[in-house]
Amino acid sequence: MQEDNRSLHDGPAARIDELCRELDRHNRLYHELDAPEISDEAYDALFRELVRLEESHPELKRPDSPTLRVGGKTLPYLETRPHRERMYGLDNVFSAGEWDAFAQRAERGLAGTGAAAGGWWADPKLDGLACELTYEDGILTQALTRGDGEVGEVVTEAMRTIRNVPLRLKGTLLPELLEVRGEVLMFRREFEELNRQQASAGQKTFANPRNAAAGSLRQLDPRITARRRLRFLAYSLGAAGSSRPLPWKTHGDVLAALSAMGFETPPLGTLCASPQEARDYFARIEARRDSLPFEIDGVVYKVSSLEAQQALGFTARAPRFAVAWKFTSRKAETRLRAISVQVGRTGVLTPVAELEPVSLGGVMVSRATLHNEDEIRRLDLRPGDAVIIQRAGDVIPDVVGPVLEKRPAGLPPFTFPRRCPACGSEARRMPGESAWRCLNLSCPAVTMRSITHFVSKAGLDVEGIGTKWIGILIASGRVKSPADLFTLAKDDLMGFERMGETSAANFIDALAEARRSATLQRFIAALGIRMVGEQTARTLAAHFRDMDELAAASQEELLALPDIGGEVAGSIRAFFETGSNRELLARLKSLGLWPVSQKPEEASALPLQGVRILFTGTLSRPRDEYRKLAEEAGAQVMSGVSKKLDFLVAGDAPGSKLEKARALGIRILDEDGFRALLTAGPGSPAER
Ligand code: IVH
Repeated sequence: MQEDNRSLHDGPAARIDELCRELDRHNRLYHELDAPEISDEAYDALFRELVRLEESHPELKRPDSPTLRVGGKTLPYLETRPHRERMYGLDNVFSAGEWDAFAQRAERGLAGTGAAAGGWWADPKLDGLACELTYEDGILTQALTRGDGEVGEVVTEAMRTIRNVPLRLKGTLLPELLEVRGEVLMFRREFEELNRQQASAGQKTFANPRNAAAGSLRQLDPRITARRRLRFLAYSLGAAGSSRPLPWKTHGDVLAALSAMGFETPPLGTLCASPQEARDYFARIEARRDSLPFEIDGVVYKVSSLEAQQALGFTARAPRFAVAWKFTSRKAETRLRAISVQVGRTGVLTPVAELEPVSLGGVMVSRATLHNEDEIRRLDLRPGDAVIIQRAGDVIPDVVGPVLEKRPAGLPPFTFPRRCPACGSEARRMPGESAWRCLNLSCPAVTMRSITHFVSKAGLDVEGIGTKWIGILIASGRVKSPADLFTLAKDDLMGFERMGETSAANFIDALAEARRSATLQRFIAALGIRMVGEQTARTLAAHFRDMDELAAASQEELLALPDIGGEVAGSIRAFFETGSNRELLARLKSLGLWPVSQKPEEASALPLQGVRILFTGTLSRPRDEYRKLAEEAGAQVMSGVSKKLDFLVAGDAPGSKLEKARALGIRILDEDGFRALLTAGPGSPAER
């Protein structure tokens, strides 16, 4: 190219300048404007030319050269250095009330100082990794992670590879020293792409974009950082040193200046004139939370006036002029103390995370299921790890994954036990299954679980027979299966310590009552057939007269029923094909526990057949009693409010379920309405 030669004649310095300018321009066209003007090959050729020139003239290498963006030398470890000015954290608030209190405290703090807040600057709280960039005479000279706020890790090389980090600030009259603080993020799309790549390369995946961002930045080899698409969003300043007074009066001014210097700043930021406006802003951002291209975990509010910020100052931990209003947490971080292994009623060994107790959305959580061995391996979870847990919906919390950057050195991986932790016999993992199982048919833990389930609310719902007594009876050898319970006599029981005559009589009565009133649905559910829960038990009870009929049903017959798929049908067949199960059924039958269902046509004549109902608040009678009434009328009693719900029966102090049901347009009844429903069916009973 003609031009190349001409500038080369002017000397390598001019050509280096020109290449830097051109490469920067193409970078911007490509990354910011998404409108490249040259091919990747042409770009690479320019880039290689610059690398060669810089190699032969190292003294001419510019401090903002685009070659710095590919990542320099591999580091032996991450060095640490103190921040010039401490990087404070933020105090959190979790509700409108707490926010108001914070805002009022700040206003009071300003009284008499002569400074006015000037409103609140609000922007999303970015869920990434806080960092500080140091610019000397406009050139990026150092980058530190927040670390503990006093001392951070040096990540200068890695930070230079982030495309939207200016290597040289734009503009004139720049302060000689300027420290810019912000958050390093990985956008959702890049995060998903990275995890796909990692998975297909057989490498570890990241639990969330924040971990991915932190893991990608804190690399000893900055070339790895260069390949990860990170972004830096600037939201405040650290130290600034200038011979001229700094011209900025408000936080909005600072952001505008940052953006003029070439930084990207958090989107959706705005000035709220009053705490009330700030509340509205929170609601708007929370509503948009999931549609943003990156993860946020709340809103940050800062007193707008810099003079007022200074007047308010800091507590030991955090500024008095800024606060984070966090979304009610669906995620939390804690430590994995241990992984224990529980034996389920089918002999499956289920790993359970034993956690340091942590509050998650207002509830203390100390355990979470880990599902199976593969899940532990997939997450690469190790006892001792810092872990992120989350609750999706209202269910049991899940472990999202370890926080790898907090993993203590030398933490050994978890090995799944090869023996049943309850009875010590061999455990085995069947081909094609993810579960390890205890092979001992009379494993006491399996017996314990299956009997407990049999009498539990999910099963026959026998009152007053708790795990303690089941444990004692099993340990004595007197009870080995659910059927044995029904052979117990009062005298058997009175032989045990702390079992008086009345307790023994109650115990026997409760069993007799359960035997008398058991419905086929509850009986099926009580047996604990794999994959047959309450819903499937209801379907089966509606179609078969008794267990003999069900036992005789073919796979095809089962598949023809609503909501029964191949796996469930297979599991039902397998249950009846197992000798010990047939023996158990025969014994139960001989003991008189053999419920017979109404014929299907009778069943559908139940007043509340197919109706979904939920009770909430304080009712005039025990909730269980209402539940039984509803179930006997054919209704399904739900545990949470969802669109599927037909009726919510609300007692006193009904709380959030009532609000949610109202919002979903679900019909709401009081107790009288419910009684009317029982007799008349779901016509149009009185609604609240
Ligand atoms: S301003 C003195 N704005 O959240 C105020 N911080 O949990 C300085 N963060 O350490 C911070 N998004 O690193 C500010 N829009 C935002 C933010 C934000 C995320 C970080 C910040 C802070 C942490 C506190």
